[in-house]
Amino acid sequence: MEFEKVAVNPRAIAAGQRLEQTLNRLVRGRDRLLGALRLGGRRADYDDLAYTFHGGPGEGMRRRHYDKSLRLLWKGEAEAPWSSFHDCTRLEQQVMDHALQGMDEEQRDAHRRLSLPEFRQLLDREYTRREKQALVAVLSAIGHGEAYAWLVSADLLGQVKSTGAKAALTMQVLEEAKHFVVLRELVHAFDVPVPRLSAWEYMLMESVLKADGMDKLFGMNVLVEGIALGVFGALSHLPGLEILRLFHLDESRHTGLPLNYLGEFPLGFWGRHDPRSRVRRMGMVAPAIPLVFHLEEDLAELGIDAFEFGASVIRKIGQLAQRAGFFLPIPIPALVRLLDLSFNSYCWATRPDYTFRDLSRADCTRGRRERAVEREVFGDGSLAVA
Ligand SMILES: [Fe+2]
Ligand SMILES: [Fe+2]
Repeated sequence: MEFEKVAVNPRAIAAGQRLEQTLNRLVRGRDRLLGALRLGGRRADYDDLAYTFHGGPGEGMRRRHYDKSLRLLWKGEAEAPWSSFHDCTRLEQQVMDHALQGMDEEQRDAHRRLSLPEFRQLLDREYTRREKQALVAVLSAIGHGEAYAWLVSADLLGQVKSTGAKAALTMQVLEEAKHFVVLRELVHAFDVPVPRLSAWEYMLMESVLKADGMDKLFGMNVLVEGIALGVFGALSHLPGLEILRLFHLDESRHTGLPLNYLGEFPLGFWGRHDPRSRVRRMGMVAPAIPLVFHLEEDLAELGIDAFEFGASVIRKIGQLAQRAGFFLPIPIPALVRLLDLSFNSYCWATRPDYTFRDLSRADCTRGRRERAVEREVFGDGSLAVA
């Protein structure tokens, strides 16, 4: 390549460079001093000399979360054609059109892209008004949670170390934004009033948003995501709610994030055992317990026993927390047994002919693929999501 060089004054250039070097030493020296005195200093946790964020490149996190999220990226327009989303590329639209053309009449009918009125008719055909209210109560509880997940993951983006972990959290921010806006349209399609956050969920979500650092990662990516995974797994087989499979897959990646991150940046002995951290974590878990009672009536309408659901979700979350080293003031297996006993006692006192059973051993996740995904997340094997 031949460039036509521009004439410059070397002395002026050298003077400018000297000025910049002096200023560079001054501003960085000032920020180092302020940082050492804990009075501020450089705000960005970025190392421009190494060209990476503090904590290093973190290629493993990047591959397991950022790359995988992009590989599995889904679009509202393709998955919920009745929605107002127009987010497919021209190529994706062409692929969808070609796939439809290649089908016979019967297949085309099955894959027909429903308009919003047709989708509403489908929901009216499949569910009574009371069942629609119950579905909206459960889905909007998660929908409000998605708003918090969006805010919390954006906060966490500034708090995790390494370039790979920041790339992973960036994808989580994008996915939570998508979950919030897509789920909002799905909930509105039911055409019944949308309830506010319950007091229990309000307390839970606010405490997670106000938590710091790794407490926030526990509150969101273990506790809240674990509950969301349970709800999506329990509902994704229902007519009109097939899109929840994709939410379930995204949330499984989010619940896998703490273990992958802590594999690179361990909590350390004090981080795991500090009594104040244990109490703070318990403070986040506590409102989730009355939330199970709050959802009892609506889940029952959908054929789901809230206490089987709650106990099994708490068992799964407990496994994840235990493996990550997010301990609580009492041993997690003891907490699961205590809740199992409390839920059983409540059911025995309030339901006719109730017999005690192992509620936490239940599994309310219905779909075969969703169960396989959860085995990968909660099972004993590695959490590496290749
Ligand atoms: Fe989400
Ligand atoms: Fe999530």
